[in-house]
Amino acid sequence: MRRWLHALAPVGAGASVLDLGCGSGQDLKQLARYTPQIERLVGIDISQTAIDRAVAEFQGDPRAEFVCGDLSKHLPFHDHTFDLAYSVNTLECIPDKESFLRECARVLKPQGQIVMAHFDWDTQTFDGADESVVRKVVHAFNDWKQDWMAAIDPWAGRRLWKYLQSTGLYSGQVFAYTLTNTEFSPGNYGYEQAISFEALVRRGMISAGEYGCFRESLELQSEAGQYFYSITMFAYVGTRK
Ligand SMILES: C[S@@+](CC[C@H](N)C(=O)[O-])C[C@H]1O[C@@H](n2cnc3c(N)ncnc32)[C@H](O)[C@@H]1O
Repeated sequence: MRRWLHALAPVGAGASVLDLGCGSGQDLKQLARYTPQIERLVGIDISQTAIDRAVAEFQGDPRAEFVCGDLSKHLPFHDHTFDLAYSVNTLECIPDKESFLRECARVLKPQGQIVMAHFDWDTQTFDGADESVVRKVVHAFNDWKQDWMAAIDPWAGRRLWKYLQSTGLYSGQVFAYTLTNTEFSPGNYGYEQAISFEALVRRGMISAGEYGCFRESLELQSEAGQYFYSITMFAYVGTRK
């Protein structure tokens, strides 16, 4: 899925790239690997821990720069700086999406590219013995505003078109990629999601019995070689008008 995302954003020699909500810089790392001629790689994230990790990851790479900053505010970059504005799974956390997308346009060069990508959380599919329990557990997660998020939007994926269109600043289209897993084991996204759902019990959003029923049915499916998970990533790919 990441390879698919990176291929949506072909950048040429001398390009400058901004990753908004860069986390520990993994996407920038891959983009730099595929396109070594990128001249400037900049990541911004509100989490100092994530920024520290990104800085450590890129140590010694003079092209890289990481900024701890809030995307809800004025972006700390000059007008017309970047060839590509790239962001994955971050837009839902920004309360005023239009103002954020206007800031992205401001820092992009004219005709600069934008790749704004997001899971649509309600496309998450798990199978299970009790459909109502699976729905309850998955929807509880989808609607959960975690402490580090200033806002949530479980439908951010399907709303990318609306959000970008409403600014009138971009011309583009939406692409989709469905990630599938058939292995219920560490390192697979569906497995990591299912394990993280246990936090919903501690927060009183589902009962321990409901989580146990959900988890047990996934393990039984796995033992039978029948486990299946999917989630769809949507990506708006466009240019600044
Ligand atoms: C789900 S993670 C995605 C990280 C990375 N883009 C990826 O795809 O792996 C969302 C990221 O957005 C950052 N974030 C959330 N709200 C933010 C804000 N208001 N300003 C800057 N970063 C923010 C979080 O710290 C986190 O690193």
